[in-house]
Amino acid sequence: MGGSSFQGKVVLVVGATGGIGAALVHQLLAAGARVIAAARSPERLAMLVSETGQSPQLLVCPTDVRDRLQVGHLLAWAWGRVERIDLAIYCAGIEYLGPLTSIDGKELEEMMATNFYGLFFLVQQLLPLMDKQKEKGTIVWVSSPMARLAFPWASVYAASKAAGDALMTGLRRECWRSGLRLLTLYPGPTATRAGQQLPPERLPRWHEQGQKMRAGRCAELLLRAIAAGQRQRAVTMPLRLLFLLERWLPALSERLCAGMPL
Ligand SMILES: NC(=O)c1ccc[n+]([C@@H]2O[C@H](COP(=O)([O-])OP(=O)(O)OC[C@H]3O[C@@H](n4cnc5c(N)ncnc54)[C@H](OP(=O)(O)O)[C@@H]3O)[C@@H](O)[C@H]2O)c1
Repeated sequence: MGGSSFQGKVVLVVGATGGIGAALVHQLLAAGARVIAAARSPERLAMLVSETGQSPQLLVCPTDVRDRLQVGHLLAWAWGRVERIDLAIYCAGIEYLGPLTSIDGKELEEMMATNFYGLFFLVQQLLPLMDKQKEKGTIVWVSSPMARLAFPWASVYAASKAAGDALMTGLRRECWRSGLRLLTLYPGPTATRAGQQLPPERLPRWHEQGQKMRAGRCAELLLRAIAAGQRQRAVTMPLRLLFLLERWLPALSERLCAGMPL
């Protein structure tokens, strides 16, 4: 992705109906991109279409990323219509929090399948397509600060996100000479539906307290990092400081993370 503009680019947004994903779609359309939006709920996708005033630049395809075949269908369907994907943003995610003993098998599977397998299904099937393009594409993994900081009551969610981080790092090294670009971005706390399906006793206070940015602001920061081609980037300054602390003063970071209010 060159320079600061998404004008004329074909962008796939997976997880396009959530707080951050929908804001990305709106901003990409406003920047002149052609957008293919995917998520499970056809109703929410229809709402997205109507919010954009039925933009002819927006195509939607209901997809469950936990299913390899559905991800393959999404890519074949998109390719059949636009014959290239300049940028793919994997923003689908699900978050179950709570003490480790409260996470049941279904939640574990759902987090691993949505946050990690789905990413794998996407990149594995997208790479050969992007490889055919004259101008190679960019794949963006919307990770979470939890992948690096793992606050208490978020350990399994953190593990599912950290798996995605490792996949992207390894793949970036594997594709080093290919011209494909693989970026891992870390949004800061953002006000969305994420985690809101949980009963209050499983929502840690650190999740609810503190300032959350608007989804539109988060999308703006993500698009700025993408346009700048930042390989691995925490999009807010407080997060960058926390990552520095984790790297250079791990004992202090450990105490800080362990002390997050529950
Ligand atoms: N909000 C934050 O503070 C924050 C912070 C750091 C990182 N993140 C990450 O940012 C991403 C977006 O989060 P958000 O806060 O915008 O969450 P959100 O509002 O809950 O949106 C999640 C999106 O993922 C889609 N999705 C969930 N399961 C799916 C599946 N199986 N197949 C396809 N799509 C699926 C949802 O649509 P359907 O339900 O219709 O499928 C929705 O579009 C997530 O990866 C999250 O981990 C969020």
